[in-house]
Amino acid sequence: MDGSAPSWQARALAPLLTDAWTDRLIPITEGFADLLPQEPPGTAGRSMTQWMMEFPLLAPIYERIWRPAGVLAFMGLDVRHFREERAKTVRWLGLGPGDAVLDVACGPGNFTGAFADAVAAGGTGEAGIAVGVDVSVPMLRRAVATNGRKNAVYARADATRLPFRDGAFDAVSCYAALYLIPEPFAVIDEMIRVLRPGGRLALMASRASRHGVVRGGQDRILGAMGLRMFGLDELTGHLADRGMASIEREVHGVTQYVRATAPRD
Ligand SMILES: C[S@@+](CC[C@H](N)C(=O)[O-])C[C@H]1O[C@@H](n2cnc3c(N)ncnc32)[C@H](O)[C@@H]1O
Repeated sequence: MDGSAPSWQARALAPLLTDAWTDRLIPITEGFADLLPQEPPGTAGRSMTQWMMEFPLLAPIYERIWRPAGVLAFMGLDVRHFREERAKTVRWLGLGPGDAVLDVACGPGNFTGAFADAVAAGGTGEAGIAVGVDVSVPMLRRAVATNGRKNAVYARADATRLPFRDGAFDAVSCYAALYLIPEPFAVIDEMIRVLRPGGRLALMASRASRHGVVRGGQDRILGAMGLRMFGLDELTGHLADRGMASIEREVHGVTQYVRATAPRD
């Protein structure tokens, strides 16, 4: 680092990070913090879908076309749920002014921006912060460009080894990513670790068919693309095993939305 003063992004991030980081050590390039100077483990074997997520031209297409059309189709064309997905997630996460919220695998920041608005200062209160992390540089560039906010900070980091300290966040979400990450349960464990007691967690992931033949087809076709279909109780069961409380699930088409609260003690 040079001798210049740390950027606002570094100053905002520093209190949330593990002791390995200080604001002067946080490299900010192109408006986001790069907390992953080396390639994350396992990138040599990244799936076709993840390879696309890192393709420079994909981010705008993902944000404008792929995400809206793909998710609406995956939701079984449930237009009402599609329209209220973001607002509902803000409600599920119980976001309010002053909160610190983490959006894991944020992509182009399409939820991070809304989270930042929800935790922005009300009246004379202090503004909260929304942090979006992703491994894809093109996605982070897009997040800074289209979903930048004064209280939104983006960082390149690996969801399976989050650089944040234990209990740093009031709320944590991970949408539309667990099914393409090879170690999804390690991601959930990291999300729980960085959540404060009583903090709120929200997940959106795939839902496998209950019918054996269809499920086999899903596993073969989507599996070849590096996508995993989660059984109906797989995510909720893991959260229960980890001691999470108030676990709820909603199913829309082949997507499932899960929320839970970290125990208070
Ligand atoms: C389909 S996008 C989801 C974006 C956004 N959350 C949404 O709901 O639209 C999945 C994102 O997960 C990111 N990703 C994949 N593996 C990751 C990892 N190990 N750590 C952080 N991000 C990861 C990809 O780069 C991609 O931007």
